[in-house]
Amino acid sequence: MANTDIGIDLGTSNIAITTGGRGVVLNEPSVIAYNTRTERVLAVGKAAYEMIGRNPEYICVARPIINGVISDDDLAHSMIREFILKVNKHQLVKPRLIICVPSFITDIQSRAVVDAAKSAGSRQVFLIQQPIAAMIGAGINISKAKGHMIVDIGGGTTDVAIVSMNGVVTSHTIQTAGNAIDRAIIRYMQNKYKLLIGERTAERVKIELCNLYDPNDEVTYTVKGRSLLKGLPAQVDLSEIELFKAIEDETFIIMEAIRKVLEDAPPELVGDIYDNGLLLTGGGALLGGFTKLIKRTLGIRCVVAKDAINCVAKGTGKAFKNTATLLDGFEAVTLYKYR
Ligand SMILES: Nc1ncnc2c1ncn2[C@@H]1O[C@H](COP(=O)(O)OP(=O)(O)OP(=O)(O)O)[C@@H](O)[C@H]1O
Ligand SMILES: [Mg+2]
Repeated sequence: MANTDIGIDLGTSNIAITTGGRGVVLNEPSVIAYNTRTERVLAVGKAAYEMIGRNPEYICVARPIINGVISDDDLAHSMIREFILKVNKHQLVKPRLIICVPSFITDIQSRAVVDAAKSAGSRQVFLIQQPIAAMIGAGINISKAKGHMIVDIGGGTTDVAIVSMNGVVTSHTIQTAGNAIDRAIIRYMQNKYKLLIGERTAERVKIELCNLYDPNDEVTYTVKGRSLLKGLPAQVDLSEIELFKAIEDETFIIMEAIRKVLEDAPPELVGDIYDNGLLLTGGGALLGGFTKLIKRTLGIRCVVAKDAINCVAKGTGKAFKNTATLLDGFEAVTLYKYR
């Protein structure tokens, strides 16, 4: 991997970037703040995230990546360009880029990613499927004729795949992941306690209180918001059991996606997966009690990858060694897949 090579995990919630041999050098929210009067970018990443919900009307704070794909071309181009400038300030040579995309993506969606990378000034662009990048990032040898299963739970998508011989054999991508769980928490607080809470509070509650395996009534967390009845600040002590109820449906949908991929997989590979276990990556892998719940419900061993949030980005970095087996997204629009 040359010093100028850049690997990007273009996530719905976070963008993680690797450069040269330096590993992950940046992991920031995929948010951009833009002044609509002057048409200038004000901030990207953490600084822009801080502005969410606090911006005047002429400043647009947006997430240009939704459910793992680009939803606003211009903003995505500007955001990617700013991030590349952050990590590649003094380089004269244009970088080569590997960008990871969900395992299920249309040609138009992948074209948008390649265009964004080109407009950010890259010399050559490769696309890699998210499950492949995550496996490489977790240090698993996927070149053998052995099945490995991965579940990447991000902000916008849960990507479940079985990989063997460098390729995705069976996969299923759903749009129920971290953000959907946050929204369920917001709905629950609104319906049950008439308490209005924001996205960031809901995410905090999820991270602090989630227990999907053996939730307890006595473990609680104080949730602060605004009472819908009085219009004034209010707080509620929420228990693990209540949180479990609030997010039960979303957890079930994710569990069913895993079950579906197991059901669709060729039997030989299912055997391998019972031996190897299942690998969890992405921020959602850290949901309290999730691995134990999978073991209890599906009967397969399950491990959270080391540094789960950065696994995909690390994999894109390592994939530069394998560019001979990656198709160049620059030329062959329909063939950006890993060979
Ligand atoms: N400790 C934690 N427990 C539960 N969820 C967490 C934890 N830490 C982060 N998350 C959640 O993980 C999600 C972000 O994960 P990640 O950075 O892997 O997503 P992404 O790559 O941006 O999204 P996607 O892959 O869907 O495009 C957010 O929903 C966040 O709330
Ligand atoms: Mg991701």
